Amino acid sequence: MDQPSATEPDPEETGEGGGAGDGVIHTHALTKRYRGGQLAVDGLDLTVPAGSVFGFLGPNGSGKTTTIRMLMGLIEPTSGSARVLGHPMPRAARTVLPHVGALIEGPALYGFLSGRDNLVRYDAADPTADPRTRGTRVGAALDRVGLAAAAGKKAKAYSLGMKQRLGLAAALLQPRRLLVLDEPTNGLDPQGMREIRSLVRELASDGTTVFLSSHLLDEIEQVCTHAAVMARGRLITQGSVSDLAAGARGRLVVTTPDTADAARVLKEQGVGDVVIAEDRVTSDPPEGELSAVNAALVTAGVRVRGFGVERASLEDAFVALTGEGFDVAG
Ligand SMILES: Nc1ncnc2c1ncn2[C@@H]1O[C@H](COP(=O)(O)OP(=O)(O)OP(=O)(O)O)[C@@H](O)[C@H]1O
Ligand SMILES: [Mg+2]
Repeated sequence: MDQPSATEPDPEETGEGGGAGDGVIHTHALTKRYRGGQLAVDGLDLTVPAGSVFGFLGPNGSGKTTTIRMLMGLIEPTSGSARVLGHPMPRAARTVLPHVGALIEGPALYGFLSGRDNLVRYDAADPTADPRTRGTRVGAALDRVGLAAAAGKKAKAYSLGMKQRLGLAAALLQPRRLLVLDEPTNGLDPQGMREIRSLVRELASDGTTVFLSSHLLDEIEQVCTHAAVMARGRLITQGSVSDLAAGARGRLVVTTPDTADAARVLKEQGVGDVVIAEDRVTSDPPEGELSAVNAALVTAGVRVRGFGVERASLEDAFVALTGEGFDVAG
């Protein structure tokens, strides 16, 4: 991304998350209708807290990339507004973007240049980057994304995962207050995904706010502190990952050979939605004391081999919220 040279520090930079105290990213009724008529993002109100690892979750076509493009000032919203680091976008792009590292779908690379030389070009396009330390910065970024060994290879010979890593390296050349990563693990193998996840955690522990999009629920659960769920251009919910998962209540699971007796006792205890499946009886979590239910089972002679409440996953929450599976919208 080409940056103009006007990057003098502004007074709002001292407070994390900008002056307004309403999040590192804040949108109000943000809407994008493409020229073809497609309503890609519909009235989005999003707040990304400072210091969070924020997962922007949704199936293919739900509007994630469109939102990110608006946040980064790459496309104009049809209506509504967005603030990034306390400043309006796209108007304040010149002030905001030097503090933001971004990886957006299909990073622009020069195929005829090596991975290293691509990064040198990115770094050289940044007027705040000291040319004397360029080699060190580029080397460190390559190291961080695990590309050091392949740095001399031409980018056109990179695999999708390697290109993705190179795009991430470009976003990491400078320390940033905010990283915006659109599907950062796209095209990576499982080991590569693990590496990116641990890199994201590491960056977050240094105080960088990370906003990442994904259509992988378990990925969001593993790495994010907060999440927003999109479906068909609309925000379904947002909040801390633990709150979102808690929104879908867990299930009481009793493992026993005496399933029929266990089911009867659970119903006597007033527990709802009792279901028998093989050697397990599951139900809504009891309203009262868990141990009282366990005691009732044992007293009734049920051989309890396992007993506990299984935590709801984000996937449970998603299904509970949307009433549907996590599939591509039509
Ligand atoms: N340039 C465009 N012109 C017209 N429609 C578009 C354009 N880009 C995206 N769309 C449409 O807008 C909707 C949202 O697309 P978007 O790329 O934002 O989704 P996404 O959540 O990023 O999906 P994915 O997980 O596949 O990357 C889709 O219906 C898509 O077809
Ligand atoms: Mg996308």
